Amino acid sequence: MKVYQLRNGEEYIVRQALKADAQAMIDYIMQIGGESDNLTFGKGELEITLAQEEDTLQQYNEDPLGFFMIAEHEGKIIGNINLKTHNRARVRHNGEFGVSVLKAYWRNGIAEVLIGELIEWAKAGGVVTKIDLRVRDDNAGAIALYKKMGFVEEGHISRQFLIDGVYYSAYYMGLKL
Ligand SMILES: CC(C)(COP(=O)(O)OP(=O)(O)OC[C@H]1O[C@@H](n2cnc3c(N)ncnc32)[C@H](O)[C@@H]1OP(=O)(O)O)[C@@H](O)C(=O)NCCC(=O)NCCS
Repeated sequence: MKVYQLRNGEEYIVRQALKADAQAMIDYIMQIGGESDNLTFGKGELEITLAQEEDTLQQYNEDPLGFFMIAEHEGKIIGNINLKTHNRARVRHNGEFGVSVLKAYWRNGIAEVLIGELIEWAKAGGVVTKIDLRVRDDNAGAIALYKKMGFVEEGHISRQFLIDGVYYSAYYMGLKL
């Protein structure tokens, strides 16, 4: 667990997500789905049961190549990051992550902290040597964040998202460690 500060000086913590966080994670997912059109799900689109979320978190915890961390303020999850790798030896060094932060907490440096933790973890583990992500090509804020963290655009794919009948393209971005 690490302690960081919001812009207003209040403390928040960053730590591994545990099975016991399942309900708080569901509440978090329900909230962020309605706060942005830049995720792979919208408001009310994900129906996750407590048992499913507990299972997901347990799988991440048991997988040495699974990474799932949360930022927490006053007992509430305010941000999260998770990375999935592959089982097969030839692609195991490569993982794709997703990151999000509650709107009320944007521009506090939380995503930067979470991505920094991911990079540190990957470097320490020595297995994951390439980190990838996909981002809507009109999500300028997130693209600026990833570039600040050293990611570069590696590809442009069409029809990655379909939201309310409209297709959106995405960039693949990557960071070599
Ligand atoms: C994108 C997102 C994760 C950024 O989280 P955040 O905690 O607000 O980001 P940070 O405060 O760590 O920003 C770090 C840097 O990224 C850049 N950045 C972040 N948001 C930005 C924005 N809206 N506009 C321009 N630059 C931005 C800036 O360079 C910023 O540094 P600065 O504040 O010193 O200028 C957050 O806005 C979010 O959850 N959005 C909805 C979901 C989403 O888009 N996720 C990414 C999907 S690929």
